[in-house]
Amino acid sequence: MRRLRYEWRKRGCKLLTKREAAALVLPKDKKPLKERGEAFAPANIALVKYWGKCDDELNTPRTASLSVTLDGLGAKTVIRRGHSSDRIWLNGVELGADSGFSGRLSSYLDIYRDDQCRFFEVETESNIPIGAGLASSAAGFAALALALDDLFGWELEPSALSILARLGSGSACRSLYPGFVEWRTGRCGDGSDSHSVPLKERMPGLRVGLVMVDEAEKPVGSREAMRRTRDTSPLYEAWPRQVAHDLRSMKRAIKHRDFELLGETAEANALAMHATMMAARPAVLYWLPASVAQMRRVWELRARGVPLFFTMDAGPNLKLLFMAETEALVREAFPELRVVDIFP
Ligand code: PMV
Repeated sequence: MRRLRYEWRKRGCKLLTKREAAALVLPKDKKPLKERGEAFAPANIALVKYWGKCDDELNTPRTASLSVTLDGLGAKTVIRRGHSSDRIWLNGVELGADSGFSGRLSSYLDIYRDDQCRFFEVETESNIPIGAGLASSAAGFAALALALDDLFGWELEPSALSILARLGSGSACRSLYPGFVEWRTGRCGDGSDSHSVPLKERMPGLRVGLVMVDEAEKPVGSREAMRRTRDTSPLYEAWPRQVAHDLRSMKRAIKHRDFELLGETAEANALAMHATMMAARPAVLYWLPASVAQMRRVWELRARGVPLFFTMDAGPNLKLLFMAETEALVREAFPELRVVDIFP
């Protein structure tokens, strides 16, 4: 049983549904619905990962995490009032109600249905591949929360929007700010203090490069993979301790603009996360042979003195971490690389 839910229940507190948790941050007074709501939200890549929930309903995390936001890469969403059912388009194609993506969106939209708006039409344009471990769901749910804010005229603070985005997909709560962002666990069982905060520090010159190994949707979604890891992996017990240690190192690296420490910590943290899931039963393995080949290429370059590191999420693709000074060298070794300047 999830510890936080357990503690919360022991204290005699009621377990909340998503709708009840959202009501804690939504305004009580309704404004007239606008014709349409529209928003863009960027993707983010965690340098210290979120892996495992306290509360599976509210997406509250077992540990804090820290990410960088990918400027310009993400999802644009337009939302309107629907008529007799939800209708959802992704990159111009209307999805059937049986598709995984529209099912997730519709169930998230249940939070917001009321007598003004019983159904929604949602059009999302994403400039990153969907479901391939490239943080497309983070961008998608953050854009949706922002677009709903626009449609309903709530004018919510970023921390409240971060909470609403989190109810769609945990990592989405970090997509509300540029640069370095920390998502704090929070102490309340209702999730009302589990949102992201921007860090004021910057690291000009920091680059993230996306190495595409495979664009196909992942075989096991992150929700199921996290649950399986938390509930069955003997290595998961060590994970919260490791994250606490890595967060301290990461913050030191950011404060002193120490790129090597940042890269080393991010790479080791990602590998530790993957180790916890490989030890789950049944095992979760997102790596493909080509993922390992790309890791080896990073390590070879590093052995030759190039400060280059990688991180990986719930998919086979790598994200390279390097500084502007080495961009030309890195591009030479990874010709297909898509490079994002984190602090333009
Ligand atoms: O937010 P979710 O459920 O898509 O989970 C994201 C998990 C990782 O991408 C692997 C790590 C992270 O912190 O983003």
